[in-house]
Amino acid sequence: VSERSPGTPGARGPESSNVTALSHIAIAVREADPLVETLVAGLGATRGAEEMLDEGGLRVVFVHLGPVTLELLEPRRADHTVAKFLDTRGPGLHHVSLEVKDILAKLASARAAGVRLIDEIPRPGAHGTQVAFLHPKSLGGVLLELCQSPQDDRRREP
Ligand code: CO
Repeated sequence: VSERSPGTPGARGPESSNVTALSHIAIAVREADPLVETLVAGLGATRGAEEMLDEGGLRVVFVHLGPVTLELLEPRRADHTVAKFLDTRGPGLHHVSLEVKDILAKLASARAAGVRLIDEIPRPGAHGTQVAFLHPKSLGGVLLELCQSPQDDRRREP
């Protein structure tokens, strides 16, 4: 509980947070396509790009709803971490991804604050992004992904 009133940026306010947006919310499913179809038909979503990650072990399908992006995770190998997640917990919220300006700085500050890191160094994510996961045990049970997009540096140039 903060002494500050809600919504008041403190000494470590928006500028030092390094977070620029909610990148996406990821949902683990056995099959992405039926959920995509439901979201398109039922909520007016738009099907976005898709790609295979982890050397074919994971199919990722993006779905857009206005400013919100969902990332549907469909494992293609029984030993993939998302397949194990589905085995133990069933389909559901897998992680929340925050877009950051400087993923290395964010990882360093999280580590310094005692947050358990799953990735000590960033690794390749979808669309040429660099991503790193922070352990849910340190963050209220939610797996958090930090995501730095490759366009970020270019975007900030004049
Ligand atoms: Co993600």
